[in-house]
Amino acid sequence: MSSAHYQALEPQTSDEDNEDIERRHHQSNSRGCTACATSASTTSHPAHAMVRKGGVARRRCLVPLVAGALFFVAFCYLTLSADTRLALGLGGGAEDSEELSHHGLDGMNFRPLNETVHICSESYEDRRQFMQDKPQSEYGQLPVIYFVTPTYPRREQIPELTRLAHTLLHVPRLHWLVADDQEKCNGFMDTLLYRFGIPFTHMVSPMPSKFRNEKPAPRGVANRRAALQWLRQHNLTNGILYFGDDDNTYDLRLFSEIRKTQRVSMFPVGLIADYGVSGPVVRKGKVVAFLDSWVAGRRWPVDMAGFAVNLEYMAQYPYVNMPYKPGYEEDLFLRSIGLQMNLIEPRGNNCTEILVWHTQTKSKKLGMVRLESKYLDDRSNLGALLHNLKLMGVASTTESEGRDALISKNGKEKPHSKILS
Ligand code: UGA
Ligand code: MN
Repeated sequence: MSSAHYQALEPQTSDEDNEDIERRHHQSNSRGCTACATSASTTSHPAHAMVRKGGVARRRCLVPLVAGALFFVAFCYLTLSADTRLALGLGGGAEDSEELSHHGLDGMNFRPLNETVHICSESYEDRRQFMQDKPQSEYGQLPVIYFVTPTYPRREQIPELTRLAHTLLHVPRLHWLVADDQEKCNGFMDTLLYRFGIPFTHMVSPMPSKFRNEKPAPRGVANRRAALQWLRQHNLTNGILYFGDDDNTYDLRLFSEIRKTQRVSMFPVGLIADYGVSGPVVRKGKVVAFLDSWVAGRRWPVDMAGFAVNLEYMAQYPYVNMPYKPGYEEDLFLRSIGLQMNLIEPRGNNCTEILVWHTQTKSKKLGMVRLESKYLDDRSNLGALLHNLKLMGVASTTESEGRDALISKNGKEKPHSKILS
């Protein structure tokens, strides 16, 4: 989504001008086009070779031939379906690339994702006995919600995931896809996720290094791409996809609402940018427009937490993607699955309620506790406690930086040796 510091692109052409990828896929007939492209290349090559060798007269009589060949190639290109063009490595759909280039988004060809999925640990077992006062067995028929959570190492990571887990613990039939933005698997997180008893997949999906120092950086994109790849690898065509960041606040009613998603459902998200809200405008039960303080040419100006997608619907789109384009992740993802206004299902009592909040946690740098390492043994709790905090990425110990850790008794600071020896 949505940040005032993202550079706005040119305003978009009208809704009517836009054609979604889906329509193009179905409208254009790809049959015969591979043959077209092959024959075009074979006719143009000899002609080209002759022009280079021949004299002026020869060149003159070749002009119509070359022009004809070029026309033929252009004709073939324009009549190829987006899929076939992509398959032939000829670039994306005509309207799409036109539209994307209009927004400075060229080069964003929708291609099938090809991410490496690196799984740290996973569990398909639901070890929860009761959810919202009912035994697990009573929920057996519900479609599964695939709740995709990008996360990244920082002091607040484990507290955020713990808080989120305690919401998800109440949600039946949920598979939690936690994708961590780092190279190495965090063993502490494996244990933590397993302990909750919620079915989960923990993977690592580092942001490509070339984006790391960009401002703004594409946050959570590598993570969501890896999760999309995981869904594809598992050929999942049954269930609901939802992108749930680790720092948002979720109302339990959100889950019953998104579980009903037939294609794409949408609902307002609270605490977004200047208006404190972002979401669809609904008239007579239909989504007709959007309210969001940052439009910037986005056809679907919604927050990542403001929509859910049915996997059966998504499976029809081979080019599902989320490009590394900060601020445009939602829009481009929704375009890649051929969203149309009339397909959107408004939720949350016709988009009048807030079921998810874009809360943000104040970030602080790693804590530093100065203690001699000889005291970090089992004579006190401090060795194990600080060891755990280090594993969680919350605090570290030092022997040399800053002032000695304050250890006090009866309101008085005491030397470490007095308490810990
Ligand atoms: C908002 C939206 O809620 C995000 O879904 C969207 O990706 C983001 O804007 C954006 O477009 O940049 P915001 O609160 O501004 O989110 O961003 P964060 O919460 O910091 O990051 C979004 C998600 O990506 C979080 O789950 C976070 O854990 C993860 N993230 C963040 C990473 O995986 N790596 C990072 O370096 C930063
Ligand atoms: Mn956030």
